Amino acid sequence: MVISAINIGKSYLEGTGSRLIVLEDLSIDVEGGKVIAITGESGVGKSTLLHILGLLDTVDSGRIIFNGEDVSSLNDSQLSRIRNSDFGFIFQFHYLLPEFDALENVALPALLAGMSRPEAESRAKELLSAVGVAERAGHFPNALSGGEQQRVALARALINNPRLVLADEPTGNLDPKNEDKLIDLLFGLTREFGMAVVLATHNMAIARRADQSYLLREKHLEEVIC
Ligand SMILES: Nc1ncnc2c1ncn2[C@@H]1O[C@H](COP(=O)(O)OP(=O)(O)OP(=O)(O)O)[C@@H](O)[C@H]1O
Ligand SMILES: [Mg+2]
Repeated sequence: MVISAINIGKSYLEGTGSRLIVLEDLSIDVEGGKVIAITGESGVGKSTLLHILGLLDTVDSGRIIFNGEDVSSLNDSQLSRIRNSDFGFIFQFHYLLPEFDALENVALPALLAGMSRPEAESRAKELLSAVGVAERAGHFPNALSGGEQQRVALARALINNPRLVLADEPTGNLDPKNEDKLIDLLFGLTREFGMAVVLATHNMAIARRADQSYLLREKHLEEVIC
């Protein structure tokens, strides 16, 4: 198992002082080489769950086990090292850094992980080819289309050979053709590299293509049998 959430609970303190309970006694096992889709209405807690699995946010109760270890025993720098070297993130808005070109954006997480610049750049080039934007390597994000930016973000998410990719509505702002292309890439690369993917989406056609599909509803996950 790459990561497991065991009986987790998560709430937010609201401005009024009351607590909004988002997740309750929720468990999920994420296996390598598989894509898990999470669907559910807006505001139900999909992003909250992805942030927790991405070790970007903590739980109120329950445990998160990564690599056989309870992450609550880890400090901030250990958590951020795991996030950078073992996880890849793709969000609805790509969050590429505007002051760096496509190649540099993709290479950056590898440089942060200690890879030499020539090696990081050569791997970044390979990934840009794999996602079909090699010829845009020198373009800054503002000179790339939305679909190209998302593909660069996918390449960036994969550069450190992550064990887990968290994709939060990664095709949220793409047209159907580019959406299909990005999902084909994500699914294909998952199979090729054996990483685990947790994907939040509103698109049922995408959810049906996943190996496992869950509906998040009333604070719990229900497995959807397709
Ligand atoms: N930092 C926060 N403080 C307070 N409430 C929050 C916070 N983050 C999220 N929420 C609330 O928690 C609930 C779940 O939010 P979340 O973003 O996880 O939903 P979602 O399923 O991803 O929705 P969408 O499909 O619109 O992206 C929502 O009611 C949201 O308003
Ligand atoms: Mg969300």
